[in-house]
Amino acid sequence: MGKKVITPGGVVDGVVELPGDKSISHRYAILAALAEGHSEISNFASAADCRSTLECLRGLGVEIELREGRVSVAGRGLDGWKEPRKTLDAENSGSTIRMLAGALAGQPFTSKLTGDASLRRRPMRRVIEPLRQMGARIHAQEGDRAPIEIQGGPLHAIDYTPPVPSAQVKSSILLAGLYADGVTTVRESVATRDHTEIALREFGARIEGGRGVIQIHPRPKLAARQLVVPGDLSAAVFLIAAALVLPGSSVTLHNVGLNPTRARVLDFLMSIGAPIHVASLQMRDGELVGDVSVRHAPMAGGRISGAQVAEMIDELPMLAALGPFTSQGIDIHDAQELRVKESDRIATIAEGLRRMGARVEEFPDGLRVEGLAGGKLRGAKVDPAGDHRIAMALAVVAMGAEGDTVIHDADCAAVSFPEFFATLDRLRGAGKR
Ligand code: S3P
Repeated sequence: MGKKVITPGGVVDGVVELPGDKSISHRYAILAALAEGHSEISNFASAADCRSTLECLRGLGVEIELREGRVSVAGRGLDGWKEPRKTLDAENSGSTIRMLAGALAGQPFTSKLTGDASLRRRPMRRVIEPLRQMGARIHAQEGDRAPIEIQGGPLHAIDYTPPVPSAQVKSSILLAGLYADGVTTVRESVATRDHTEIALREFGARIEGGRGVIQIHPRPKLAARQLVVPGDLSAAVFLIAAALVLPGSSVTLHNVGLNPTRARVLDFLMSIGAPIHVASLQMRDGELVGDVSVRHAPMAGGRISGAQVAEMIDELPMLAALGPFTSQGIDIHDAQELRVKESDRIATIAEGLRRMGARVEEFPDGLRVEGLAGGKLRGAKVDPAGDHRIAMALAVVAMGAEGDTVIHDADCAAVSFPEFFATLDRLRGAGKR
């Protein structure tokens, strides 16, 4: 598998059009497949995870064409999916397996879902439990892991509070709620991203939400839509971090998704000193979109805990990795969820940063990465353990180190941001090194 050598230094400078948001792309694809008629989705994510969703939907008899970031989906209606002939493979994608499990719970057939070695280690009980309560019969491997077999059928409405704040779990239940015998309610003690609620409304579902209580009415007639996916803020964060790490840098990102349930990361970065500006804000298909610019500046450091964790869950590895570049370091607490992501993200990022000379203290639910007070990290051989967000975080850190860094299996970045390394190269510009 491809390793990547990162040479430090230079600046990042330029303007970027980001690939479509991974979270939103999954949702649009699934809902388009459940709608009646042809949907057109532009700027669909290039992320490998979203290809996994499209492949699973094809396995359910949905015709999908993908051309240059444009996806057309021939929706089959709520009752039009076909029993799959093969096991559906979500590969590395937790969103795919968990959200599809919800939609499949309402189908009058049996389907089997699996994933790669990383996904087969991740907890599925969080969706199995509520879907069983709704009436689906689900068989999983020991420890409630994938592969899971779902015998769908008529479902009961439930009123459910997920024990772990998770947008994937909430979405899974809401999708199953489309097939229930009454109004399904999900209660959230901590707000998680609300793209499913927004997308369901866009496709014509009756969904009410607010103050942590979301309710979906069953059996809507979902209508095909033409939608444009905003740029992926979670991908943008790696380029923003690159600008913060390399003195003299300045980057502008166009049409980035700025949904308030995702954009807290920008507030946090600003609170530690990052000069970030947001312009051209507009609502598109129910989602807030805008242009984000950032330039290099010294950062103070800070602490992330409580509700902030769910709001910035995918950004935590990158934020932790900024620790050495701050004066006071970065502290992260209440983030035990990171241990059951694509890798154990607390251990993987801690190990990578230590190898580069950072001082890191690990806790069961987080980590503290010390500021180096102007001192430098050193290049090293690092292993992101097949985790896309760790590979990209370490690449950014490596640019601010002394000496080359070799990232093992860096290709895994394609799980969410296949253009990452090429975009960095372009922004760094050969002449400026
Ligand atoms: C996602 C929700 C989050 C996030 C993941 C995408 C989604 O997972 O980490 O990358 O699209 O709903 P959890 O729901 O497990 O927190």
